[in-house]
Amino acid sequence: MSDLRITVLGTGYLGATHAVCMSALGFEVLGMDVDKAKVDALNAGELPFYEPGLDTLLAEQIATGRLSFTTSYEEVAAFGDVHFIGVGTPQKPGENAADMRFVDAVVDGLAPHLERPCLIAGKSTVPVGTAERLAERIAELAPVGAAAELCWNPEFLREGFAVEDTLHPDRLVFGVRSEHAEQVLRTVYATPISEGTPVVVTDFATAQLVKVAANSFLATKISFINAMAEVCEAAGGDVVTLADAIGYDARIGRRFLNAGLGFGGGCLPKDIRAFMARAGELGADQALTFLNEVDAINMRRRSRTVDLARELLGGHVLGARVGVLGAAFKPDSDDIRDSPALAVAASLQLQGARVAVYDPQANANAARVFPTLRYVGSVVEAVADADVVLHLTEWREFRDLDPAAVASMVHQRNIVDGRNALDVEAWRAAGWTYRSLGRP
Ligand code: UDX
Repeated sequence: MSDLRITVLGTGYLGATHAVCMSALGFEVLGMDVDKAKVDALNAGELPFYEPGLDTLLAEQIATGRLSFTTSYEEVAAFGDVHFIGVGTPQKPGENAADMRFVDAVVDGLAPHLERPCLIAGKSTVPVGTAERLAERIAELAPVGAAAELCWNPEFLREGFAVEDTLHPDRLVFGVRSEHAEQVLRTVYATPISEGTPVVVTDFATAQLVKVAANSFLATKISFINAMAEVCEAAGGDVVTLADAIGYDARIGRRFLNAGLGFGGGCLPKDIRAFMARAGELGADQALTFLNEVDAINMRRRSRTVDLARELLGGHVLGARVGVLGAAFKPDSDDIRDSPALAVAASLQLQGARVAVYDPQANANAARVFPTLRYVGSVVEAVADADVVLHLTEWREFRDLDPAAVASMVHQRNIVDGRNALDVEAWRAAGWTYRSLGRP
């Protein structure tokens, strides 16, 4: 194992996972965040969010003594040979563009303390051109000048599979300006590379674009199948069978063709919007106008789900009891950023429904953002006396429900499967009126 020392700036889903996994690969790692409460929790081996497998790995790595966390830029600068930037780039309020203030703050906080040669590796998803701008900024601010070199190393991890995706990535992308930077990254990732992970070595612009291009493609794939769902609804077809059938074509592939409530989360929605905004600045906006349509199709699925619930209620939403299963933007995550499930729940409440929401992990996060919704601690409480049940995040707990048992708890046996993930036949056999998106 190399004796390179690694730091990770930002301890959200991306940064915390990266720090823990780098330690698991055998490096000494110092993670940094400005949020002292988070840093204290992490140092105590407690993960401040839900991510399967990361909690135990964090505790193990803290116990080895290789991994610790700080709030100090000075400590980070003195410690690290390689500094990873893993802070968020959320959507700017009221605009499509990405808010770069956290990335900028990290560079401005770290660079003035850099007194020994190091590599700074950007991981955050950024508008193309950011790396070029930050390289200049670092050269200006760092006491060691050009000996603090920047590179771009985008991250592709999925929430729910963060550890697996970090330790065994599909590919590694190195945006570098020197042989030295490439060699340092090859040392950091020696384990996955030795296990056969392909490495793409390229320039700054391409490295930054790979990430947004990948997420745009995934979003497009989801909206494509959701557009087919709209047509299936009009024509009486079944989008799940259609997805299976086209997915057998290896050129198309079945993954990411699950029709339903559409995509949410902290990445796909804001990334396609920020990409459009950046393309506009570059004069290439026409190239990405289709992403507007991808976004619009995605948002229409939410209103369609609300409409299905209203139809099942015979048009009477006011005062109706609605049991909502799921608040996270996807299963195995407590992340509620841009969650389609919560958008649907909030919309029905706004129309006068009495909504009860249950999510196995995301209730607390949801309550912070949508405090007026009522959150309950179990499926039983969520569906009690419900006039309609909405299945909006496909947790295993929900997929495994016994429709006959749930039937005994509700007022009316109406279910909307917003994720096409329940066993239609079983629910219908138990006397439920089952409706879903894109199926008859
Ligand atoms: C995504 C990318 O997959 C990942 O590579 C990138 O690093 C970050 O953004 P993530 O946001 O964790 O990861 O979730 P992902 O599993 O991609 O799902 C995104 C959304 O699409 C979820 O809301 C999910 O429910 C939805 N989705 C996914 C569908 O509606 N249908 C599908 O077939 C797949």
